[in-house]
Amino acid sequence: MPKRIFSGVQPTANLHLGNYLGAIRNWVGLQHEYESFFCVVNLHAITAPQDPRELAARTRDVARIYLAAGVDPQVSTIFVQSDVHEHAELEWLLNGVTRLSELERMTQFKDKAKKQRENVLAGLLMYPVLMAADILLYQTDLVPVGHDQKQHIELTRDIAVRFNRDYGETFRLPEPFIPKVGAKIMSLDDPSKKMSKSDENPAGRIALLDDADTIRRKFKRAVTDSGTEIRFDESRPAITNLLSIYQLLTGKTAAEVEANFEGKGYAQLKSELTDATIEFMRPFQERFHSIGDEELTRILSDGRDRAREIARPIVREVMKRMGIAGA
Ligand code: TYM
Repeated sequence: MPKRIFSGVQPTANLHLGNYLGAIRNWVGLQHEYESFFCVVNLHAITAPQDPRELAARTRDVARIYLAAGVDPQVSTIFVQSDVHEHAELEWLLNGVTRLSELERMTQFKDKAKKQRENVLAGLLMYPVLMAADILLYQTDLVPVGHDQKQHIELTRDIAVRFNRDYGETFRLPEPFIPKVGAKIMSLDDPSKKMSKSDENPAGRIALLDDADTIRRKFKRAVTDSGTEIRFDESRPAITNLLSIYQLLTGKTAAEVEANFEGKGYAQLKSELTDATIEFMRPFQERFHSIGDEELTRILSDGRDRAREIARPIVREVMKRMGIAGA
């Protein structure tokens, strides 16, 4: 069997540079080495309240973002999670080998539950089981994600191991692919927090659809550290974060980046970083806007068909092994 990768992004508002640099960017390189499945995980989005019309529009926009970033539909399978019913089916089946205590331990659940307060949705707790289903459904080898998804992939492996033990060898065990640089892009206004879609204050993130003026303004206001030297240094998280973004967008090595900024001040760093970001964004956004509705519909329906072909026999096999297959 060819080696496979699977990954996805939730179609919640405000996709940002962290989502691109931590995840999507790596898919583009990996798609030529692996059989690749990139999913818009809209079922995950309803683990928090959503406006239905906006969710539907954003689901298509996230697929556009994949394409604009360079995911090639000739090479990779791009599809919407809810179009392949097997994701929800396998989730239910995996609930039969997942423990409540495992779900309650997930740090993202705990963090997000705090935000939803007394109205925590049941789906929020089950979220990692659906993610395990996404991954296991395609016998995935590698899952390219940012650092915040590591714990969910570990749980996916635990679920797969338990299923294989109890019902016979069925699932491949996936590994996370977490980049050395960019796996955790931090907020521009508080470098102790990660750059986040759900942060109420937009100043902390560069959204993938921000215009040039907004990008300029956000970098200008970005927090810096004390001191003046511009180099990677864990004890100076704000500057290190800006340098990491610069490094990834320009494709330079860390040493080249430091050499470039030697003897320069923070204003110069911000100005060059702004230019590099706008240089990336301009063609990216042009591609985003140039993808027509019909073309997108065709890509997503091709993707759905390819994904289902692989997903359907796996769910059938799981049901058979669990003793709940039909006649
Ligand atoms: P989501 O939609 O929150 O984020 C999408 C991807 O972006 C990465 N990411 C970041 N990377 C670097 N710096 C940041 N500040 C940053 N913020 C987010 C995330 O790690 C992720 O890779 N549960 C997933 C979606 C999902 C999934 C899956 C992923 C559902 N099923 C199966 C992989 C495989 C999520 O909510 O990602």
